[in-house]
Formats: sequence, structure tokens, C-alpha cells
Amino acid sequence: MKALIVYDTFFSNTEQIARAIGNTLSTLTPQVNVQTRRVQEIVPEHLRDLDLLVVGSPTRAFKPTAPITNLLKAMPRQGLRGVKAVAFDTRIPLEGINSVIGRFFIRRFGYAAEKIARALQKHGAELVVPAAGFAVRASEGPLQEGELQRAAHWLEVIIQKIAAGDRE
Ligand SMILES: Cc1cc2nc3c(=O)[nH]c(=O)nc-3n(C[C@H](O)[C@H](O)[C@H](O)COP(=O)(O)O)c2cc1C
Repeated sequence: MKALIVYDTFFSNTEQIARAIGNTLSTLTPQVNVQTRRVQEIVPEHLRDLDLLVVGSPTRAFKPTAPITNLLKAMPRQGLRGVKAVAFDTRIPLEGINSVIGRFFIRRFGYAAEKIARALQKHGAELVVPAAGFAVRASEGPLQEGELQRAAHWLEVIIQKIAAGDRE
């Protein structure tokens, strides 16, 4: 089995979440070949014969970064059929935004993870769980306390869901 965690990052917060996810996956499922790679490194070979694809991005102007968006756009039509997938982002949660206008725009335009999840689904991937957001305390971080542990727990839930699906 093969799993790939693809992430982008500016200030390393999304990378930390991606690595926590990769380490949890490697520890809990040692039989799986787990790779954690920054989006700029990805070549088509990395996406071949995948069982699980995890895509994570910082939320920048309500969206994933351009390299993550471009990777998703460049995938062949229905190229993720038969692949299980999940999406996550890092973000500033609503409570961290002081301005009313800022909160209005975030409510209206959302975050990166939901957009990644929709793109994954459009390519035929099966979403295992809803998209997840992990909170930073300010634009450059750090992550809010407990977010790395929450990411590891999120992965445990994903593994359980996949295992339950395989037993059906
Ligand atoms: C130019 C810019 C735009 C941003 N836009 C958003 C946004 O729309 N929504 C949000 O929640 N956070 C936004 N942020 C905060 C980022 O989500 C935060 O920098 C990111 O989670 C940090 O992850 P990284 O360390 O992996 O880059 C923005 C930050 C920058 C610098």
C-alpha cells in the first residue's frame, strides 16, 4: 500500500502538521509506504498507484496556495479514481480575527481545505472524512497548542474509517 502526504508551506506550520500526519501513519500502519513531500517536489511518479492521498495547504486569501491549486489542476481527469483522499489546511480561526469585515469575508469565502477536498472529489477520489482545519495563532504561526496532537488523532480516525470500509 502507498500513501502520499503533499503539503505547501511558507512559515512551516503546515509542514509540521503534514509531518505529524506522516509520522502517525507510518507508526500505526508500518506496512504502508508513506511519503511526505512538499508540493514543489512532486513528479507524476509520486501519484502513481496511490491508496491514500493527503493534501494540505496554508489558507492564503481563502484558498490553497498556487502550487497546490496547480497540482490539483494538472492531475488527469478522474486520475484519482479508486484513491482514498483527505484535505487539510492551516488557518486563522474566526475568533482570532478582530475586524467585523474580516470575519464577514471569511464566513463568505471560507478556507483552503474545503476547496482542496472538492478538487480531489472532482478527480474521482473518495473522501474518507470531511476536510479539516488546524489553527495558527497569527499569520506566521505558531500553531495553536494541541494542534499537532489533534492532527495525529485525525489520522487515527481516518485509518479506522479505512479499515472499517475494507472489512465491509
Ligand atoms: C498573504 C496571506 C494571506 C492569508 N490569508 C488567510 C485567509 O484567507 N484565511 C486564513 O484563515 N488565514 C490566512 N492567512 C494566514 C495563513 O493561513 C497562515 O499564514 C498559515 O496557516 C501559516 O501556514 P504556513 O506556516 O504553513 O505557511 C494568510 C496569511 C498570509 C500571509
